[in-house]
Amino acid sequence: MWLPFHTVCLRSQKVCRRSVAAALSQCSRHSENANVSLFSHSAGLAAQTCKTLLFRKHGDPSKVVQLEDIDLPTIGEKDVLVKMLAAPINPSDINMIQGTYAILPDLPAVGGNEGVAQVVEVGSQVTSLKTGDWVIPKDTGLGTWRTEAVLAEDDVISLPNDIPLLSAATLGVNPCTAFRMLSDFEYLNPGDSVIQNAANSGVGQAVIQIAAARGIHTINVVRDRPEFTQLSDRLKAMGGTHVLKEETLRRPEMMELFKTCTKPKLALNGVGGKSATELLRHLQFGGSMVTYGGMGKQPVTVPVSSLIFKDVKVRGFWVTRWKRDHSSDGRAFRAMLDELCHLIRRGKLTAPACTEVGLQDYSEALDAAMQPFTSAKQVLVM
Ligand SMILES: NC(=O)c1ccc[n+]([C@@H]2O[C@H](COP(=O)([O-])OP(=O)(O)OC[C@H]3O[C@@H](n4cnc5c(N)ncnc54)[C@H](OP(=O)(O)O)[C@@H]3O)[C@@H](O)[C@H]2O)c1
Repeated sequence: MWLPFHTVCLRSQKVCRRSVAAALSQCSRHSENANVSLFSHSAGLAAQTCKTLLFRKHGDPSKVVQLEDIDLPTIGEKDVLVKMLAAPINPSDINMIQGTYAILPDLPAVGGNEGVAQVVEVGSQVTSLKTGDWVIPKDTGLGTWRTEAVLAEDDVISLPNDIPLLSAATLGVNPCTAFRMLSDFEYLNPGDSVIQNAANSGVGQAVIQIAAARGIHTINVVRDRPEFTQLSDRLKAMGGTHVLKEETLRRPEMMELFKTCTKPKLALNGVGGKSATELLRHLQFGGSMVTYGGMGKQPVTVPVSSLIFKDVKVRGFWVTRWKRDHSSDGRAFRAMLDELCHLIRRGKLTAPACTEVGLQDYSEALDAAMQPFTSAKQVLVM
């Protein structure tokens, strides 16, 4: 089956981009312009197919996503053929399939926006990559739930292959989000503190570890559950200073906590609703709350007193926007990845708890990714 080229609109922003489907089947500009005879090493590729997790309409992921074979196009002179190694199932992937995310591809589309792949073949004009390199997507929308892909050299960025596979597969979104939120909103010095909800999420675990590596204390809020103690121990073992249940935020114990811990300069909100309001109440004067996720599907309510008497700043962050804003000069993204990989090699940043799943077991993995209280990311391993 050949997936036609589509243009895709970021519907909420009226910005046209290549579609997920186009990216995975490669732009027509590449397939049309490619002169196969120029690339003796790519002979026979056009006949190859790959396996993909494809959705033809929006809806319940485990119902609309199907395992399908698609043709791989011939690689163009500035393209690379990659073999996907591992790709996580993130909440934004689920929302994209459901049709509720800010970026929606034209259909059919292959799921997945993140993952690590290995370059197996390069076009004759490729200069930044070589066979064997590990690469991750530079942007959202590549459709990573698949076994192989022909991609433009410019769509991916290399990663060192001496870091664990699961770290590489989950590096491009959540740790980058955590890194930017800890770097770009408040000047945080060792001894300062940050408060966050959804602390057991992929983002939350990266926040804990990157903050700890910088000597920053974290107050980590999670929803109550029967295994709270085990979860708390796990988050503390990775560097979390305090781990609290949501209910505790409203209790007098917080006064005790702030006798030994400075009031946070920064609050990171991945939930919304009451949880976000409670984070705001504990911010120090002039602090910032950065909303990056809305897992609770409730709006953020800002207490008037927080604005008047504490002059808090209420901000938002989207890593996709950051990557696009920095795409013309790739140095900032490269520098961030280098720093994150350095933390990984020093054992300061590990992948979130993951459940590895074969591509064929996608349906169970999609269902599992939408279950609450799991504290483990589903990662498709190809
Ligand atoms: N803005 C950005 O650039 C950016 C980047 C990365 C991620 N995100 C967003 O950040 C959020 C977390 O992503 P992730 O990949 O880190 O997620 P994840 O690892 O899949 O974890 C999901 C988290 O959400 C919590 N959660 C789920 N439903 C909830 C609810 N109804 N109320 C409160 N908490 C709930 C879970 O807590 P339990 O264990 O209690 O279920 C868990 O902590 C998502 O909304 C994602 O889209 C945004």
